[in-house]
Amino acid sequence: RDKELTIAIDGWTACGKSTLAKALAKELNYVFVDSGAMYRGATLHAMRKNLVSRNHVDINRIIASLPEIKIAFKNNAKGKAELYLNGENVEKEIRSIEVSNSVSSVAKIKEVRLFLVKQQRIMGINGGVVMDGRDIGSIVFPLAELKLFMTADPDIRAQRRFDELTSKGEKVTLEEVKENLKLRDEMDSTREESPLTQVEDAIVLDNSNLTPKEQLTKVLELVKKVRKK
Ligand code: CDP
Ligand code: CDP
Repeated sequence: RDKELTIAIDGWTACGKSTLAKALAKELNYVFVDSGAMYRGATLHAMRKNLVSRNHVDINRIIASLPEIKIAFKNNAKGKAELYLNGENVEKEIRSIEVSNSVSSVAKIKEVRLFLVKQQRIMGINGGVVMDGRDIGSIVFPLAELKLFMTADPDIRAQRRFDELTSKGEKVTLEEVKENLKLRDEMDSTREESPLTQVEDAIVLDNSNLTPKEQLTKVLELVKKVRKK
């Protein structure tokens, strides 16, 4: 049997990281972890307690409430991983524009990151894992055998996310989505704690003009090369 790799996928907002990570995991029979969903879950918990809104973050109380949070992934009947927050399926709610507008303010808190990174490392402890996020190759799995840094044209990313949200019945405008992506990219890449960075050993993948299938084919070739090393 081939060696089980750890694959880290980082990059800008809505550039296809989860789509690729999910498809790779399926193809390789690996575990897929959407680390962003975990930050979204922690943010939803804080929102429900009124500890965060667009222009207010109660950092101390968010930190104090971390022990209340139990985050887990469970596969649905179709085999798609969905996020559970304290036993409740919150998969749909965490993708809302409201959560998107607050998540970067919660994700910049050091204690929140330590709390989630610890769980992410346990999920990948045996290898055979594809994890996507912002700090996977830099902080969570700095020794990952394959690291990708994904990017795509901002307008294309906004259009893709807008199509995705509206197809699920979410009421948003393209402008709102554009604004959200811009703000999160800015906050995520300039924060003090584990900012989004392109690590030296990451391979850059610009998928502006690639379909999900084409990007998967490309990366499967990279996986083959890494396994031969
Ligand atoms: O899917 P999308 O690109 O919209 O974002 P996501 O992967 O769901 O992540 C949501 C937010 O969580 C990001 O904007 C970051 O603020 C935060 N995040 C992070 O800080 N570190 C990670 N490893 C993953 C997500
Ligand atoms: O995880 P991240 O936020 O980086 O992006 P995603 O949720 O995987 O992808 C955002 C949207 O772009 C999804 O609707 C994907 O189907 C779409 N996509 C695409 O159209 N072409 C690609 N090459 C990759 C993703």
